[in-house]
Amino acid sequence: MTDTTAPVLEMKAVDKSFGPIDVLHEITLKVRAGEVLCLLGDNGAGKSTLIKTLSGVHKPTRGEMLMDGKPVTFSGPKEAQAAGIATVHQFGGTYPLMSVGRNFFIGQEPTKGWGPFKIFDRHKANAIAVEAVQNFGITRITDGDRLCGGLSGGERQSLAIARAVHFGARVLILDEPTAALGVKQAAHVLRIVGEARRRGLAVIFITHQVMHAMAVGDHFAVLIRGAIAADFRKGEKSREEIADLMAGGESMADLEASIEGYMDTHDGHVPPPAG
Ligand SMILES: Nc1ncnc2c1ncn2[C@@H]1O[C@H](COP(=O)(O)OP(=O)(O)OP(=O)(O)O)[C@@H](O)[C@H]1O
Ligand SMILES: [Mg+2]
Repeated sequence: MTDTTAPVLEMKAVDKSFGPIDVLHEITLKVRAGEVLCLLGDNGAGKSTLIKTLSGVHKPTRGEMLMDGKPVTFSGPKEAQAAGIATVHQFGGTYPLMSVGRNFFIGQEPTKGWGPFKIFDRHKANAIAVEAVQNFGITRITDGDRLCGGLSGGERQSLAIARAVHFGARVLILDEPTAALGVKQAAHVLRIVGEARRRGLAVIFITHQVMHAMAVGDHFAVLIRGAIAADFRKGEKSREEIADLMAGGESMADLEASIEGYMDTHDGHVPPPAG
């Protein structure tokens, strides 16, 4: 991919502290249209804080954010959303007791009638929602009246992604969308992520599953204790190298070998924690 167009979204030397606690240090990253940036990091690395900063929940303590090369500040998540940044959380942000059509249009429902007589246009909402999700290849959803609680985790995620695209998101931030899913469902969500990229969205995909990242990522950044410890493009590192980086430089292969060695000589027991 060429480097000539301005990134859709960019962070430059962003720090985030909560009072005396420094969580993010000098974060610099960019994501372009039609590109998936995978943000990898272990528990507590600062991934959620980073995406909350990108999506207007937190304000950077220092540094700046740019959209299309121009500095932006968001006073809250609504402003980030209005600017085209859609964030999909782990469970897809759908309401289980609401229908597919209702969930699709939450806050932006089509109405019929006039003035005080306006009512939610259920048929229209359902038709649009079903068409939009089907266009994303989610062919098992055919009835807009179906409750979201009855959908699989993968289908809920896919619905949330289709919704974001339908309402004109330019940046799609996915916080661990595949963490709670089985292999087949995760593959489905990964396909939908690929489809969002094909449609020209800039995607930020947060995960700690290296295989999922490698399946869809064009660009990777590894976050360790709030700082970007490595930044590379597709094909530049192997799966093992990425896993080692996420473990903070400790070789996972060495770690596994030492645990296995201990278990061989200790009746199959795992070693006690260090320290
Ligand atoms: N509001 C806050 N005030 C103080 N510290 C915070 C706050 N939010 C997050 N932190 C701290 O920042 C660090 C990073 O947290 P964050 O939730 O961003 O990690 P994460 O990478 O998303 O982890 P996980 O994989 O477990 O979701 C943690 O040590 C956390 O305690
Ligand atoms: Mg998190």
